[in-house]
Amino acid sequence: MVKIALIGAAGQIGTPLSLLCKTSDLFDEISLYDLVHVPGIATDLMHIDTRAKVTGYLAEDSGLKNTLTGADIVVITAGIARKPGMTRDDLFKTNASIIRDIFTEVAATCPLATCCVVTNPVNSTLPIAAETLKKAGVFEATRLFGVTTLDVVRASTFVTHALGDGSNPKDFKVPVIGGHSGATILPLYSQAEPPVSLKEEALAGVINRVQFGGDEIVKSKQGAGSATTCMAYAGFRFVQAIMKAKNGQSVTEEAYVYLPGIAGGKEIAAELGVDFFAVKIELGKAGAVKALPIGKISDKETELLGVAIDDLKKNIATALSFMST
Ligand code: LMR
Repeated sequence: MVKIALIGAAGQIGTPLSLLCKTSDLFDEISLYDLVHVPGIATDLMHIDTRAKVTGYLAEDSGLKNTLTGADIVVITAGIARKPGMTRDDLFKTNASIIRDIFTEVAATCPLATCCVVTNPVNSTLPIAAETLKKAGVFEATRLFGVTTLDVVRASTFVTHALGDGSNPKDFKVPVIGGHSGATILPLYSQAEPPVSLKEEALAGVINRVQFGGDEIVKSKQGAGSATTCMAYAGFRFVQAIMKAKNGQSVTEEAYVYLPGIAGGKEIAAELGVDFFAVKIELGKAGAVKALPIGKISDKETELLGVAIDDLKKNIATALSFMST
């Protein structure tokens, strides 16, 4: 029996994510939580001919607890999204306490679940989740992930747009490390497979587009929000990777994690001078098995890495200071 809990399921990421989960046939139970609409969304999904039982709980009558009870995987998309002119950090004020409260309930109800945080600003919400679990004495870094898969998806997609030769984004693997916001997002095109051959200026343009891809959508939606459908796709891709690993397949995906708590991560954290960071993670039955070294990167990428680390340190400090007050 595998149960996934989707927290924020009535939102514009949560609802398409719940559809992908229901159609995947990967789950026996899908439990939806939000402040509005989820009982109806659950009924709607129950008309799809896959085996998962779908339930929807609102806040009243211990709805969050009921959603999380028995969950093996929890995906959190709850919170507000960006409007034009806002950075992801502008979401902190509202989303920080939402994440803290959700993880307080996770700690009490399903402390062994694998948790995936999508709610922005991920660079700060993941440390808040980690600190909340730590305070409750149930933190295990191998089970807690900040979802950065959309950056990986963008890195292979945007390079094919720049190449303009009809190549398939799925044929490119581009590691993306760092965080999930602006300059903290660092696609490593020097490690792309197959190698990417673009002139320096074109490559710089693609790197910038990956770093600020979220802004492209915010601008295009003209006040109606930020990435939703592609984020649901990316979130589901990460959930699929976790499920494949749970079923014994060997899988690696990038994710934003607490490095010192994962094998191989302590050394990377010491080298970078930052504890929360996205790297390639080897996934196994119980979650993160190993954080993989960054490897050789170009001089330009080394320069960008310095900027990413400086920004990340600030984002992490904001989260830790929120949790200490
Ligand atoms: C994205 O990368 O598109 C999302 O994190 C949403 C945002 O605010 O940019």
